[in-house]
Amino acid sequence: MSHPLDLNRRICIAPMMGWTNRHNRYFHRQLTRHAMTYAEMLAPEAIVRGNKQRWLRYSEGEHPVAFQLGGNDPKMLAAAARELERVGFDEINFNVGCPSKKGKSNPFGAHLIRHPQVVKACMQAMIEAVEIPVTIKTRLGVDEQESYDHLAEFVGLVKESGCRVFIVHARKAWLDGLSTRQNREVPPLRYDYVYRLKREFPELSVVLNGGVTEWDQAQAHLEHVDGVMVGRRAYKEPFWLAEVDRLFFQATEPDPSPPEVMRRCLPYVEAELAGGTPLREIVRHMVGLYRAAPAASAFRRHLAIEGHAKGAGTNVYLEAIRIAERLSRPGRAIIGRL
Ligand SMILES: Cc1cc2nc3c(=O)[nH]c(=O)nc-3n(C[C@H](O)[C@H](O)[C@H](O)COP(=O)(O)O)c2cc1C
Repeated sequence: MSHPLDLNRRICIAPMMGWTNRHNRYFHRQLTRHAMTYAEMLAPEAIVRGNKQRWLRYSEGEHPVAFQLGGNDPKMLAAAARELERVGFDEINFNVGCPSKKGKSNPFGAHLIRHPQVVKACMQAMIEAVEIPVTIKTRLGVDEQESYDHLAEFVGLVKESGCRVFIVHARKAWLDGLSTRQNREVPPLRYDYVYRLKREFPELSVVLNGGVTEWDQAQAHLEHVDGVMVGRRAYKEPFWLAEVDRLFFQATEPDPSPPEVMRRCLPYVEAELAGGTPLREIVRHMVGLYRAAPAASAFRRHLAIEGHAKGAGTNVYLEAIRIAERLSRPGRAIIGRL
């Protein structure tokens, strides 16, 4: 199923706090040219009043990239959105799914599901402030509010803001009782709710998220929705992403090999090292390139030990490429997640 708004969101890489930072997004971009990537959530105040240089930094090589905001103040969100558009982000995504306990007193994230008018006002303010798409990432519901009708009511109201793209983590958040982590596992996945949402709101672009760990599952979901967002598996086993362009975006080039991906990152690594970024900040995201291959422990060990040493430089990175080349040589046949 295709939708004009959705062409570049067929496969999305989820925002993950502490994980999908700029180094990881650049690395992922060497595995897939087309999947949309999402930056981790940030409060708009950090952009409007904080250290812009720090928070807005990204690389041209990351596009297409969305920035995720979490908050509840329409004016502040609109001001942050303008800044994000100015520096070149491709999309702004509003977080209405984070189950953090901190959102209880001053609601943000999933807590806002109980305040659909606030969500609508926030979305409207951002949509009026910028030309780039403003999308939402939400859940099926919260606590006892878990029926499809509640979800449809929420979406029906929020869509009045002009929002046309709904990314839905297909489980509710259980705010009273579960930790943030448990909230990614325990509430059951209800893909049928997300499919029904697309059926009943065909004018919207609906992206399904949660529990997708195989590309054939994503293909099956795409029979019902416009896009699929993947999170944990993409981070823990990044080489999984190497197939995306061929499977979902009609790319005809062969999938990149792990050493090829490492080589593609070399100019970035050199530039970052020259700018003072410690090597460990970059390579910590690469350790999973050969995640499940036991013979690749040398690669993992090298990145985890040498790559994390104080003052580690280009030589350490070049050695990691050499190890990756040895592992990927025909006959060794250790590629990615084998
Ligand atoms: C470490 C971690 C951090 C996360 N941070 C965010 C975040 O900042 N914003 C957000 O909307 N979702 C966040 N999530 C949720 C993911 O975006 C996604 O909805 C969830 O992991 C389900 O997808 P998956 O089953 O493919 O991993 C986070 C998930 C993880 C594992």
